[in-house]
Amino acid sequence: IFMDLFSCYLFEGTAPPGCWYGSNFGHDSVVCECNSTYCDSVGSVTLPPLGQYSSYLSSMAGSRLEPGRGQVQVNSTGAGLRLTVVPYQKYQKIRGFGGAMTDAAAINILSLSAGAQDQLLRQYFSSEGIGYSVVRVPMASCDFSTRLYTYADTPGDYNLDNFTLAPEDVNMKIPLLQRAQALSPRPLSLLASAWSAPAWMKTNDALIGKGSLKGQPGGKEHKTWAQYYIRFLEEYAKYNLTFWALTTGNEPSAGQMTNYSFQALGFTPEEQRDWVALDLGPALHASSYPHTHILILDDNRLLLPHWAKVVLNDIHAGRYIHGVAVHWYMDSLVPAEMSLGVTHHLYPDYYLFGTEACAGWNPLDRGVKLGSWDRAEQYAHDIMEDLNHYVVGWTDWNLALDQTGGPNWVKNFVDSPVIVDTKRDVFYKQPTFYSMAHFSKFLWEGSQRVGVSASRKTDLEYSAFIRPDGSVVLIILNRSSSVILFEVWDPAVGYITSTAPAHSLLTLAWNTH
Ligand SMILES: *[C@@H]1O[C@H](CO)[C@@H](O)[C@H](O)[C@H]1NC(C)=O
Ligand SMILES: *[C@@H]1O[C@H](CO)[C@@H](O)[C@H](O)[C@H]1NC(C)=O
Ligand SMILES: *[C@@H]1O[C@H](CO)[C@@H](O)[C@H](O)[C@H]1NC(C)=O
Ligand SMILES: *[C@@H]1O[C@H](CO)[C@@H](O)[C@H](O)[C@H]1NC(C)=O
Ligand SMILES: *[C@@H]1O[C@H](CO)[C@@H](O)[C@H](O)[C@H]1NC(C)=O
Ligand SMILES: *[C@@H]1O[C@H](CO)[C@@H](O)[C@H](O)[C@H]1NC(C)=O
Repeated sequence: IFMDLFSCYLFEGTAPPGCWYGSNFGHDSVVCECNSTYCDSVGSVTLPPLGQYSSYLSSMAGSRLEPGRGQVQVNSTGAGLRLTVVPYQKYQKIRGFGGAMTDAAAINILSLSAGAQDQLLRQYFSSEGIGYSVVRVPMASCDFSTRLYTYADTPGDYNLDNFTLAPEDVNMKIPLLQRAQALSPRPLSLLASAWSAPAWMKTNDALIGKGSLKGQPGGKEHKTWAQYYIRFLEEYAKYNLTFWALTTGNEPSAGQMTNYSFQALGFTPEEQRDWVALDLGPALHASSYPHTHILILDDNRLLLPHWAKVVLNDIHAGRYIHGVAVHWYMDSLVPAEMSLGVTHHLYPDYYLFGTEACAGWNPLDRGVKLGSWDRAEQYAHDIMEDLNHYVVGWTDWNLALDQTGGPNWVKNFVDSPVIVDTKRDVFYKQPTFYSMAHFSKFLWEGSQRVGVSASRKTDLEYSAFIRPDGSVVLIILNRSSSVILFEVWDPAVGYITSTAPAHSLLTLAWNTH
């Protein structure tokens, strides 16, 4: 099907080489096509000397990280909106950005030829790629698997004698994670999340539906479930893969819903608190991996600040915990300040981290849409809003999906920044891939958000950072605004005059010494 479409392209915008204007797909912007020998790439970014700035632009009209350079001016033009960088207003430090190595992602990546697999992994993880440093790894199966399994499906195996990684881990996810690590210029921050405990540990004797652990925190099911995490860390360590963090479990609210359609494990915040205090915290502390971070919640921010209050107010649980993990679903229902902001101000010692997001999950806007700029804006808006409310990193969902948005055993198909077309041995980089890049490529670990003040009200969205080397990064999203022109003032260097074209994402960066 796509072959035929490619042969009759209608060029409406200026697409970079290898990128195709997506109007033939019924969507509004371009996808960039990569094969085993070709993939457009921004390359490694080095900033010009003091007195000049770099810019990178992506837009609905077809720009994709299009580089530019200019002079920093001594004087203001006095025209239009001014964004002033306020370096002494310091906020959170960035941990990183990334995506998830689900079974589906691994299946899709490995369905390509060796050369195309390598191109794909390089796009995400190498220094010429977009700088991903975080990879979320589901522990055993989730909806983006082709079968239901856990690592300890032998009933009554409280000692986990029969705990064993799955072929999906050993043959697919682990080799790909090792390759990603080998391509990455820095150690990857791996993050583990479990969807369901083995059925025999659960009240409903099933991986799906409404169910929680049998018994009470401190009891044998809760202890075994904590040990399951330790065993997972031990088994992955045998492959030289060590985890930065683990979450207390994916979407605990899902397992509290009647007939939930895929793998879930229900926890109330009270039960999660007591499980961490009595079981997971002590088990991890006594394990070979006591420095692994524990992130609570791993669910939608609409559960904040209540969930955090219940868990973190308890010193017995709180001392084992490092952060609060949030998913992006239904973010539009809850203002960021009321959820993320309030949680940060109540518990400033715990960081906020985005662990899951994807486009195409909403029943009204389902599955893959090749070349959708609207979805790029959804990503950029949410990342910017999170960063402006103390979140230290943002993790996309599946690293790669097929053209139907799967595989997914319950047909819960969604979109991904990379869509694989196995028949043609190519993959498409979606507009969302570039949304991620505008942040992940530039905001290295340790970059600190600083203040920005606008000279007047504007619809532009923006966020500024000072990187560990002292350089400044300012990211600007124009989803729609009546402002024509703006200038940036960094009192340390001077004025930058710029424009943010209609429906665009712009990253500006400059040295300060
Ligand atoms: C890969 O794409 C490039 C650019 O479109 C093309 O020149 C090349 O022939 C393709 N390679 C393969 C193996 O299809
Ligand atoms: C900047 O403005 C000052 C005072 O208005 C003026 O003297 C100077 O020539 C200007 N410099 C440049 C480079 O335009
Ligand atoms: C579980 O492990 C034990 C000891 O290694 C082994 O004898 C037994 O066959 C295993 N059971 C299953 C169901 O795999
Ligand atoms: C293990 O991984 C680290 C990077 O995380 C690497 O530096 C080291 O060489 C690896 N060791 C082995 C034995 O592969
Ligand atoms: C849950 O699923 C069962 C079995 O399919 C069905 O009988 C029951 O009506 C469902 N309950 C709800 C509330 O949907
Ligand atoms: C943002 O886009 C709008 C159109 O959606 C355009 O009119 C405006 O000039 C752009 N803003 C800036 C600052 O360039």
